[in-house]
Amino acid sequence: MPNPDFPDRLQRLLAAFLALFITLASSRTTTTQSLLSPQPVFQFTRNGTWIENLAVRPNGDLLLTTVLPDGTLFLVQNPSSPQPRVLPIFTFPTNATHGITEFSPDTFLVIASNISQSDNPANGVLGTNQVWAVSLHDTSNPPAVTARVKKITDLPDAPRLNGAAAVPNSSVVLLGDSQLGAVFRLDTATGKYTKAFQLPEMAPVPGSNSSDDALGINGMKVPGDGFLYFSNAASRTMYRTAITGDGFPASGSGSNNPVEKIAQITSVPWLDDFDVRASDGSIFLTGSTGNVLLFIQRTGSGYAAPVVAAGALDQLALATCTAAVFGRSSGGRSTAMLFVTTGGGLGGPVNGTVIEPAKVVAVDTSGL
Ligand SMILES: *[C@@H]1O[C@H](CO)[C@@H](O)[C@H](O)[C@H]1NC(C)=O
Ligand SMILES: *[C@@H]1O[C@H](CO)[C@@H](O)[C@H](O)[C@H]1NC(C)=O
Ligand SMILES: *[C@@H]1O[C@H](CO)[C@@H](O)[C@H](O)[C@H]1NC(C)=O
Ligand SMILES: *[C@@H]1O[C@H](CO)[C@@H](O)[C@H](O)[C@H]1NC(C)=O
Ligand SMILES: *[C@@H]1O[C@H](CO)[C@@H](O)[C@H](O)[C@H]1NC(C)=O
Ligand SMILES: *[C@@H]1O[C@H](CO)[C@@H](O)[C@H](O)[C@H]1NC(C)=O
Repeated sequence: MPNPDFPDRLQRLLAAFLALFITLASSRTTTTQSLLSPQPVFQFTRNGTWIENLAVRPNGDLLLTTVLPDGTLFLVQNPSSPQPRVLPIFTFPTNATHGITEFSPDTFLVIASNISQSDNPANGVLGTNQVWAVSLHDTSNPPAVTARVKKITDLPDAPRLNGAAAVPNSSVVLLGDSQLGAVFRLDTATGKYTKAFQLPEMAPVPGSNSSDDALGINGMKVPGDGFLYFSNAASRTMYRTAITGDGFPASGSGSNNPVEKIAQITSVPWLDDFDVRASDGSIFLTGSTGNVLLFIQRTGSGYAAPVVAAGALDQLALATCTAAVFGRSSGGRSTAMLFVTTGGGLGGPVNGTVIEPAKVVAVDTSGL
């Protein structure tokens, strides 16, 4: 079917890119060379692939969720080795998978849902949103990995689930809905959930000049410091809001819980997922079709202005940069190696035409 929305969306996208080119051109003299160089970990062999999010197992292996060509969960074994082994774990009965988070040791929640391709791709399909538990187990003789996959619940009232963040030391996972601008609180032990937060800062921002103003809350993390951190794709802003130890709004009210603005980054068309560094609270944030990784350094009680840590708008290095997560050593502790995923430029081809297969890269952040 012809799609009357498309020319308008394309125009908005082009306008966003032009604005970005102008910003970069005029600030060239003050912009330092991108600081860190991404090293290859794994790349699909086909164009038309999009890795959406990732999580790290306690043994350091990576789990990848995908939006294109379908909603399959992949395992990347030994991601720091020269030739990591990559295997599909499970294909969900939806055409996309989104947020992934570890809610008990080696057990991950995966969001699966259909997203519309004929309309605004930011839009989900009501009635298709569901969350699953994937439990992994390694055996040594013979060396193999087994996965137990089980649906936790459907969320028929959520149109566009996207981010997921487990609340440490609890059975609770917070689930963001980008279209509603809300966060659901799910107890994975019972499958029961309620809408726990609906803050203006989580809402989509129509007319925001973002290339996708229909997507509000996007990336989410609960590092265990008493806050829910979240990015808003459309307003291109990073925020945090205080929560209780079991994932409720700290003020008791999910509609006016105080929100701290960390940074607004209008030099990229929209924001995607991020990680918070455990050692100091600094944030590494993906700039989506801006094709960059951003670094927001924690400075005492505040944050320094965001800088580009890797990638560039006219390069494939981080083309459609979707998510970033710190690696783990075999003891389960965080390392300084940040794993970053891409959608291969499908969100906005580089220089208007160039795409590549989706990939995972590693960025050594120990210098920052
Ligand atoms: C996903 O499924 C929805 C229907 O639920 C459909 O509108 C959409 O085009 C599908 N997307 C892809 C990539 O197949
Ligand atoms: C998603 O859409 C596909 C068609 O694109 C359909 O076959 C499938 O049943 C849908 N999934 C759900 C959970 O409704
Ligand atoms: C979007 O861009 C237009 C034109 O530059 C500007 O007038 C408007 O204020 C912008 N909207 C937002 C929300 O920034
Ligand atoms: C979770 O529990 C472990 C073990 O009791 C403890 O070391 C850790 O600090 C706890 N984390 C949080 C965020 O409460
Ligand atoms: C995009 O264009 C710039 C300027 O011509 C060029 O330096 C760069 O290599 C191009 N990028 C790709 C991925 O072809
Ligand atoms: C992907 O598309 C680009 C054009 O943007 C093309 O140059 C490249 O050969 C394609 N790669 C594969 C693996 O098909």
